[in-house]
Amino acid sequence: MELGRLFQGCRTYRRFLQEPVPEEVILEMLDNVRMVSSAGNHQTLRFVAVRNPETVERIQPLVKWAAMLPKEIGTPKKHEQPTAWIAIVKTPESGPWSDVDAGIAVESLVMTAYSRGIGSCIMGAIDAPAIAKILDLPDGYSIRMMIALGKPACESHIVDVPENGELKYYVDENRNYYVPKRSTDELAHII
Ligand SMILES: Cc1cc2nc3c(=O)[nH]c(=O)nc-3n(C[C@H](O)[C@H](O)[C@H](O)COP(=O)(O)O)c2cc1C
Repeated sequence: MELGRLFQGCRTYRRFLQEPVPEEVILEMLDNVRMVSSAGNHQTLRFVAVRNPETVERIQPLVKWAAMLPKEIGTPKKHEQPTAWIAIVKTPESGPWSDVDAGIAVESLVMTAYSRGIGSCIMGAIDAPAIAKILDLPDGYSIRMMIALGKPACESHIVDVPENGELKYYVDENRNYYVPKRSTDELAHII
């Protein structure tokens, strides 16, 4: 997939078809993430992929969807839930740069997924200790983020920031998403 189209299309998705995420896509994601940069090349993060339907379902109530939208609109309904998850896990070796490492890792994971037709939602509003218990993580390991995964069942479009500067994403009557993004001029300068 052409890189610009990948960046444009790789949006947050919060409604999914009830089809499994192919194992080969998960394997490709995990293989790509092992190659990304990390501070000092310490590679302290770990990744737990969940495809088992029972475990996938146990995680659903432990995450919060779409803070900008009413719950009945932003939260996926029973037949719209993600069909896989990946946990980004900090280890006892993770130091002060591990949040940066996690950001680099998470973007490589969602980009790889999207390039294979799988949508995602990066999630920080999670009950990390409860999910860590479900995943049976050892002491000293903690979940920094979750990624919800599945074949998208909705659209998401980038739009310009309106005159009033509002950055909140919104949905139309079909619960398709619109995500305002600042212009390149506003974000960046070339000196
Ligand atoms: C670090 C981080 C944490 C996020 N946490 C959540 C979350 O807990 N729940 C959720 O529904 N979306 C979450 N999101 C998704 C953002 O709301 C989304 O990225 C933003 O609205 C922009 O949309 P876009 O990803 O399509 O550009 C998170 C995104 C990031 C990068």
